[in-house]
Amino acid sequence: MTAPETDIDIETLRDRALKSLITARDRTTLLTSCVEEPDLTAQHSPLMSPLVWDLAHIGNQEELWLLRNVGGREAMRPEIDSLYDAFEHPRSERPTLPLLPPAEARRYAAEVRGRALDLLEGSAFSGGTRLTEAGFAFGMIAQHEQQHDETMLITHQLRKGPQALTAPDPDPAPPFTGPAEVLVPGGPFTMGTSTEPWALDNERPAHRREVAPYWIDTTPVTNGQYLAFIEDGGYENERWWTPDGWAHIRQHSIVAPHFWHREGGQWLRRRFGVTEVVPPEEPVLHVSWYEADAYARWAGRRLPTEAEWEKAARHHPGENRSRRYPWGDAEPAPAHANLGQRHLRPAPAGSYPEGESPLGVRQLIGDVWEWTSSDFLPYPGFSAFPYKEYSEVFFGPEYKVLRGGSFAVDPVACRGTFRNWDYPIRRQIFSGFRTARSAAETA
Ligand code: AVJ
Ligand code: FE
Repeated sequence: MTAPETDIDIETLRDRALKSLITARDRTTLLTSCVEEPDLTAQHSPLMSPLVWDLAHIGNQEELWLLRNVGGREAMRPEIDSLYDAFEHPRSERPTLPLLPPAEARRYAAEVRGRALDLLEGSAFSGGTRLTEAGFAFGMIAQHEQQHDETMLITHQLRKGPQALTAPDPDPAPPFTGPAEVLVPGGPFTMGTSTEPWALDNERPAHRREVAPYWIDTTPVTNGQYLAFIEDGGYENERWWTPDGWAHIRQHSIVAPHFWHREGGQWLRRRFGVTEVVPPEEPVLHVSWYEADAYARWAGRRLPTEAEWEKAARHHPGENRSRRYPWGDAEPAPAHANLGQRHLRPAPAGSYPEGESPLGVRQLIGDVWEWTSSDFLPYPGFSAFPYKEYSEVFFGPEYKVLRGGSFAVDPVACRGTFRNWDYPIRRQIFSGFRTARSAAETA
């Protein structure tokens, strides 16, 4: 159908796995050492686990997949497995469990890591099984830790109290003066992947999708644009909302994005313990699918489908193929995208010209997760691997797909095919959106 996007040799993958595991652990260590012990064991929101749960869960998943499944080792501490099984205990219950105290959780995760690195250096890294093909298990575990590092950053954002984390701001950018939207031609493109070595099961297999021509926003919707919706009474006018969305914002008295409040005639927001004026040029953050969908309707537009998002991000019209990222097949570099918790906020709309797609769409990767209109469903030919509880048990209409990753996502867990999902009410996540419209209507 198309040339493979990737053909990476095994020593490059081994080196990438090692660096990704180290980067992930450095981040985990920072996120679990910048607060005092009571803040590690406390539950800061019923939506989140105590930080110390994430810490030992990271180690436990690494032990399960790398030491036991790949390495054939015995369980180190079989009695703790059920405590850290995400399906046995919902997040709200986790603080009541006899969890490993912080020092013990750290020691356990470090011991697992030492043994995993021994395996990484040997022939088990890329053995003859599907689990170890192209170092998949190691790539999966690096991604898993980074996903929990994003989860822990969300916990930090929900935590009350003074600032614990700091990071430099992204470079300021002049107001974006390019076209507000870009026309993506209709026709088939390749969605998903069968060649990306560490793509997770829900990104597979590559398949052809037909997409009608559409216009898509050049940048994510900004706080300034979103404020116009608020000031136009968007939250008071039922006509912009789906029935479920309207019921939800009424019941919970939602009148603005999460973490915003109005004071002295201006909108302020709380961001990692600091209160600041909402910056108009920055992509809007912490909105639910319902809010994104209502804004789009108010703007005379709609959310893009997941296929439209991916075509805008990956399709190269000249080469007539899908690439790994908007800028091509090269791994993300700092000039391409705001990733990896390098900054603790999105960059101004229009940033990262080097990361734009062939048609000129910006910031598809990094900054904010982008809600799409699509339900989280399997691709044709999907098969669960290596466990049903990663994706399969979540497929269905109750979850909406988010694409592109946020500033909190590490490059190892982010690519043009990566799929995230959540309930349409959720907004503690680093979520924003861009809008689209069908070209056929005006053509
Ligand atoms: C893909 C972000 C929805 O955090 O629930 C972590 C990732 N899966 N451990 C989640 C995940 C198992 C997952 N999301
Ligand atoms: Fe997990």
